Amino acid sequence: MIAVYPGTFDPITNGHVDLIRRASGHFVHIHVLVAADTRKIPLFTVEERTAMIKDAVSPLANVSVEPFRGLLVDSVRRLKAGSIIRGLRATSDFEYEQQMALMNRRLHPEAETFFLVSSEDLTYLSSSFVREIASLGGDVSSMVPPGVKKALAEKFAGKPVARF
Ligand code: PNS
Repeated sequence: MIAVYPGTFDPITNGHVDLIRRASGHFVHIHVLVAADTRKIPLFTVEERTAMIKDAVSPLANVSVEPFRGLLVDSVRRLKAGSIIRGLRATSDFEYEQQMALMNRRLHPEAETFFLVSSEDLTYLSSSFVREIASLGGDVSSMVPPGVKKALAEKFAGKPVARF
């Protein structure tokens, strides 16, 4: 079964990488789909977000990364994927995730959403916390891949402006 793993990934965290790694053992191929259209203005461009994910998942042979625009289900159809993967951290994620899964099912009933529970030690992680901590000069080494840490440092170099 081919799967997509969609998200904003602004930026990718170790929680996302852990989920991709764990899911990669259960699907023939995973397309990580990086949302180009976002509700909020992202810190990183879609090209930057895509490049950081490619770097982080390069050891995984059956994972590819690409940006997507428009409806997720249109990309799911184009890629002939039967599964949509999403991560669940806490119960607070559930309502939004359930709504999205039901909406996607209504739009494309053939695709099934699979939820992976995040690893215990990564449950507290979120891209928004990572942006906040990095923007305030905190150490994000244990939260993101090395390339992301470097990109965050460059983004906030000399800028004590919080953007989260
Ligand atoms: O990481 P995020 O921000 O929770 O990811 C949300 C994302 C990008 C997966 C979701 O907003 C999405 O699928 N956007 C594409 C537009 C779409 O298909 N909307 C209808 C789905 S309910």
